[in-house]
Amino acid sequence: MALLTPILVLSLISLILGIMLVLADKFLADYGECRLIINSEKEFTIRGGSTIMSYLSANRIFIPSACGGKATCGLCKGRVVTDVGPLLPTERPFMDKEELANHTRLLCQVKVKKDTEILIPEEYFLVKEFLTTVESITPLSHDTRMYRFRLIEPNEITFKPGQFVQFRIPKAGEERAYSIASSPNAKNIVELIVRLVPGGLCTTYMFNKLRVGDQIYLTGPYGEFFLREETNDPMVCVAGGSGSAPIRSIVTYLSEKQSDRRIISFYGGRAPKDIYLTEYYGEIGKNLKNFRHIPAVNESTGADGWKGETGLITEVMERSLTDVSNWEAYMCGPPAMLHYSKLLLKKLGIDENRIYFDEF
Ligand SMILES: Cc1cc2nc3c(=O)[nH]c(=O)nc-3n(C[C@H](O)[C@H](O)[C@H](O)COP(=O)(O)OP(=O)(O)OC[C@H]3O[C@@H](n4cnc5c(N)ncnc54)[C@H](O)[C@@H]3O)c2cc1C
Ligand code: FES
Repeated sequence: MALLTPILVLSLISLILGIMLVLADKFLADYGECRLIINSEKEFTIRGGSTIMSYLSANRIFIPSACGGKATCGLCKGRVVTDVGPLLPTERPFMDKEELANHTRLLCQVKVKKDTEILIPEEYFLVKEFLTTVESITPLSHDTRMYRFRLIEPNEITFKPGQFVQFRIPKAGEERAYSIASSPNAKNIVELIVRLVPGGLCTTYMFNKLRVGDQIYLTGPYGEFFLREETNDPMVCVAGGSGSAPIRSIVTYLSEKQSDRRIISFYGGRAPKDIYLTEYYGEIGKNLKNFRHIPAVNESTGADGWKGETGLITEVMERSLTDVSNWEAYMCGPPAMLHYSKLLLKKLGIDENRIYFDEF
């Protein structure tokens, strides 16, 4: 106890000093006018003191930012050419070696305090903000719903199947990422499959407040997870939880093209009540010559009427797949599920560079 007291006092003093520094920076510091230079092409003169992300957004350059700037999603990366000080502890968990070396930063964490030059992917200049109206809300399971948005202005979106949009929560000023579940051929429609996260800001809003007819802003498209169309090689799709959305977009798009590509799609849930879209895949699968959809559950009592596959998704995959050396994989779902699915596919011979995935 005698040793603990000075440690506690020191921690308290550091905490108070930290808070005072943050408050002084927020309310007293004046960084004056600064130039923000983007990809050596665009330049804005701004009043310094806020995050790079806030200036980009104010100037209608939309970057992925699924956590509203809380440094929990790691999506808002860009390279900061100017020396703006060391990496913050909040940024470190999201950076790999290459990113550390090329000065990648989380743009929601770095403030502009002097002339600052940044590099962001050119695709971000193509991201648009869409005013939409909620056209329908359809329950898919006990905790998952499909939201259908009709685009008003602009009234068409171009995206690749697998990419995502961000949903702006009215009044909250925050956005969350949702993979597009519909086909890119339906240019004036965006469908999202959303699973309720208890206590979650956006999903609670969507489940409790959002109504048909409401107007909502979406931005997009974003993301490197999308269907590669330059090949017709066989593909395995793996989804769990709300990860079914981008896979639905990919398979729907291929069915509209009447693709003859070999596709095996696995969807894993904990129990039968978590499984949805089985009939949908049965229907659109009629346009696909080589398509199999395999829903599976971890647990089934037998009394629940489940007649499908049972076991961990990797066990079910191992029973259905043999050599996948010339295959591609598209996977979306919780990190643990993706980790073990990747290990299995690598064991079955897939080229690691042909595994595409989004974790959430
Ligand atoms: C690229 C991308 C695509 C995504 N696509 C979809 C999609 O198609 N459908 C979908 O439903 N979600 C999707 N998400 C997740 C979505 O962006 C939100 O994180 C999720 O809906 C929770 O938001 P929230 O505001 O309700 O919860 P928050 O208020 O952000 O979080 C509340 C708490 O729940 C935890 N939490 C956040 N997400 C989850 C989760 N998925 N499971 C368990 N706990 C969680 C947080 O750590 C926090 O403690 C996607 C995420 C990314 C990055
Ligand atoms: S880490 Fe999520 S917006 Fe920056």
